[in-house]
Amino acid sequence: MTALRSLTWIALGCLVARGADQPERLILNLTAQPATSIAITWRTSGPHPDARVEIAVATDTAEFAQQARTVPARSEVFAPDRGAPVHHHSALLDGLTPATRYAYRVGHAKEWSEWNQFETAAAATAPFRFVWFGDPQDNIAEHCSRTFREAARAAGDARLWLFSGDLCSEPEDGRWGELFQAAGFVFRQVPVLMTPGNHDLAYLRKDGAIVLDEKGKKKRGREVSAIWRAHLTLPENGPPGEAETSYLVDYQGVRFVLINSNAPLEAKAAWLDRVLTENRQPWSIVAFHHPLYSSGRTRDDKATRAAFEPIFDRHAVDLVLTGHDHAYARSHKLQAGKIVPAAARGTVYVVSSSGPKTYAAQPLYHHLMAKTGEGLMLFHPITVDGRTLRFEARTAAGNLHDAFTLTK
Ligand SMILES: [Fe+2]
Ligand SMILES: [Fe+2]
Repeated sequence: MTALRSLTWIALGCLVARGADQPERLILNLTAQPATSIAITWRTSGPHPDARVEIAVATDTAEFAQQARTVPARSEVFAPDRGAPVHHHSALLDGLTPATRYAYRVGHAKEWSEWNQFETAAAATAPFRFVWFGDPQDNIAEHCSRTFREAARAAGDARLWLFSGDLCSEPEDGRWGELFQAAGFVFRQVPVLMTPGNHDLAYLRKDGAIVLDEKGKKKRGREVSAIWRAHLTLPENGPPGEAETSYLVDYQGVRFVLINSNAPLEAKAAWLDRVLTENRQPWSIVAFHHPLYSSGRTRDDKATRAAFEPIFDRHAVDLVLTGHDHAYARSHKLQAGKIVPAAARGTVYVVSSSGPKTYAAQPLYHHLMAKTGEGLMLFHPITVDGRTLRFEARTAAGNLHDAFTLTK
C-alpha cells in the first residue's frame, strides 16, 4: 500500500469510527448466579438511549442471530479525567441455561460490536480452569499485553479471569484504555472478577481539587475510583458499602470470595467469616490485594493478617491469592502461621505480579515459603477437578516457574 493510500485509509477509518460510534471497552463480569446470568459493560462516545444487547444460544451456523433476543442496557454519562464525557452501558443477561455457549453483541441503531461468545457455568460441581493475575499496574499496553496474551494462549479454556488488585497505577482513562488494549479481546469472551488494590482507589479531593501529600504525590481516599464502577458490573452481595469491590461467586464447586483489603477491614472480616461458615462448595479461594505474608523484607501487612488469618485458619480456606508486593512468594500449607503437613487442614498463601514493576523477593517470612521469584511477569492457570486443585505459575514467555497440587 502506498503512503498516500495509507493516509487515505487512516483518514477514512477515523471518519467511520467517529461517525458510527462503535461500542468499545466491552467486558463480561460474572454475577452471583454464573450458571444462569452474566453482566456486560461497554461504552460509546455519544449517548444512545437505544443501547442494547442481542443474545442467542450459539450454533454452528450464522443462523443463531435470527433467534436472538434483545436486552436493553442501562446507561450513564461518565466524565473521564480528560476529554469529553462518554457513555457507559451495562446489561444483566439472565434467564440463561447452565453450561451453554451463547453468542452476543452490543450496540445501538447505528453500530454493533462483532458477535462474541461466552459459556455459562454448570449448575453443579464440575471441573474447570481459571487464570489468576497479580498486579498489572504499570506499562500495561507495552508489557502486560504479553502476559495476557500468553495466558490466553496457554489457558485458552479458562472459564474466568481473576485479578487481585492494582489493575492500573492511576484511576485514569488512559490507563484503563491500556488495559483494554492489552486484554480487551479476552474480556469480551471470558468473564472477569477483580477486587481493588490501593492504586484502584479514587484520589482524595477537596473543593474539587486533588489533595497532594507533603511530597507532592496525589493522595487517595477510601472509595474505589469512579472509573472502576463505570467500567465494571460486578456482584453487590458483599458487606454494606462494598458494592463491586467485596463479593462472592460460587462457581462449579468453588466459593470465590473477593475482598477489598483497603482499610477498614473489621466489617469485611465479619462478612468473610459468615460467608465461609455458610459455604457449601468443596473448595474456597479468597482473593484480595494486601498479602498476609509479604514477598519482601520491608513490608509486613500486620493489619490484614490480624483481621483475616484467624478466619482462614478456622475455615481452612484452600488458597489465598494476593498482590501488592510485585514479586512471587508461595507459602507451604499453613495453619496459625506455621507449616503443616500437606494432608492437614491449612491454607496456601500466594503473592504474585503480572506486570513489569518488580520489588526484591527477600521474604521476611522466608521460612514459610515453598517457592519465590523476582522480576517475573506471571500468570496462574488453576484447574479444579473433583478433589484436586492444580496451581501453576507461568511466565510471560510461557515457562513454568512453580506448580503444586492440593488434594482433599
Ligand atoms: Fe501494586
Ligand atoms: Fe498495591
